[in-house]
Amino acid sequence: MKKASLFLIFAVFSLFGDDSFISYKEYAKMLYKNPRGIGCNKCHGERGEGKIIAVYYIKDKTTKQKIKKELKSPSINNISKIEFFKSFKKKHKVMPTYFLTAKEIESLYYYIKNQNKGQK
Ligand code: HEC
Repeated sequence: MKKASLFLIFAVFSLFGDDSFISYKEYAKMLYKNPRGIGCNKCHGERGEGKIIAVYYIKDKTTKQKIKKELKSPSINNISKIEFFKSFKKKHKVMPTYFLTAKEIESLYYYIKNQNKGQK
């Protein structure tokens, strides 16, 4: 009984006692995967390295041959913060438009820049 109540107190403290429930990095990671819309990871890969989104074929009218095409996303872990922010201001051909706050974009940038360092 005593043990159980001690555990309860501990559990309550670990929920609210810390200054934040999840770390900033965890929050940023969550946002990257679920940014109120399709996750960035779905197109740019788990680490923002860029990837092949889809493979499709088109038919060459003259040779009548099938040509393999790839729809690729650029890597986003090697661009400047300014470029990163700019891309949220314009309309893209493939990438959807997101309605994120500056703080959220800042978090996403932080995530893709820092995820390789000291990964838990
Ligand atoms: C449906 C796939 C898709 C999703 C989802 C997506 N992107 Fe993109 N993104 C692209 C493609 C493709 C481009 C290249 C421009 C274009 O054709 O749309 C791009 C371009 C960018 C660029 C500009 C890169 C450069 O070199 O200038 C940034 C930054 C970016 N995306 C970040 C993000 C972030 C952050 C998210 C999540 C909030 C996200 N993208 C979600 C497909 C996607």
